[in-house]
Amino acid sequence: MKISIIGAGNVGSALAERVLTRNLADVVLLDIVEDLAKAKALDLSDASPLMGYKKRVLGTSDYKKTADSRAVIITAGFPRRQGMSRDDLIHKNGEIMRAVLKNIKAFSPDAILVVVTNPLDIMTYLAYKEIGGERRKILGMAGNLDTARFKALLSQELGVPPEKIETFVLGSHGDTMVPLVSKTLINEKPLASMLSKERIRELVKRTKKRGGEIVALLKSGSAYFSPSAACFEILEAIINDAKKVIPCSSVLKGEYGINDCAISVPAKIGKGGVEEILEWKLPDTELIALRNSAKAVKDILDKL
Ligand code: APR
Repeated sequence: MKISIIGAGNVGSALAERVLTRNLADVVLLDIVEDLAKAKALDLSDASPLMGYKKRVLGTSDYKKTADSRAVIITAGFPRRQGMSRDDLIHKNGEIMRAVLKNIKAFSPDAILVVVTNPLDIMTYLAYKEIGGERRKILGMAGNLDTARFKALLSQELGVPPEKIETFVLGSHGDTMVPLVSKTLINEKPLASMLSKERIRELVKRTKKRGGEIVALLKSGSAYFSPSAACFEILEAIINDAKKVIPCSSVLKGEYGINDCAISVPAKIGKGGVEEILEWKLPDTELIALRNSAKAVKDILDKL
């Protein structure tokens, strides 16, 4: 079992380390900068006697080495820099994605694709259009990351361990994301019964700005520990055919009244990728917010 990670930068190499640490699959780490991929792979394999890795890792810039991957994770692209909106990235990362997708189509036509490159929902839909075929085989990582960020903030605020918190963040990976306050339970109690509306609004706002908060502190580059962890959970669900419900950017064809774009919705993830999109009944305010989030993504896609 082999997976390929395209882009051996911060997210790609952190993900490779997670996959090896958990002995999930052999890893091909590919980067346009061949020496970077090779160096990271050598460094990771040197850690195997210390960490007990049973799987192998290879660094390359040759797509032939990625052939017949079970899943391909695309992190290739520029990270968002301070003062740069996710939308500024579209044209640069769009070009990179097209080049990467052409190779994936040639060498791993059956792979499940997990998109990490930002702006994530745009790139996920672009991947679907460029690759063609079944929409379930293409998904984007972000809803899972946004959910983890909201959960982490709630956990700190309330002093409750994350595993006692149930919540989901849907919509686009950006300012229009939709934390589902209506579906947030703390120790099985509704969040609205535990915090004031004002405080919930503040935490929702901070969740939306979390990526930017990290970018501002890092000065160069963007978050990678939590994005790689969010990606790992998806990958594990694919490889172990877990049928786990994870909010993922998925191509929609009428679900939630949304068509022809990708945003995060609750998705059952297994060996076939997005095996089912769950259509939950949402209160009007959240449904409208979700549709507005999709509209914001579609407006950008129309311009493309
Ligand atoms: N093919 C392969 N790799 C490429 C290509 C390409 N055409 N173009 C760029 N890359 C590589 C770069 O050489 C770099 O090593 O992609 C890697 C990106 O790594 P980082 O710059 O460290 O970015 P990272 O923090 O990993 O973020 C990757 O995920 O979260 C998003 O916004 C983020 O789009 C960005 C992506």
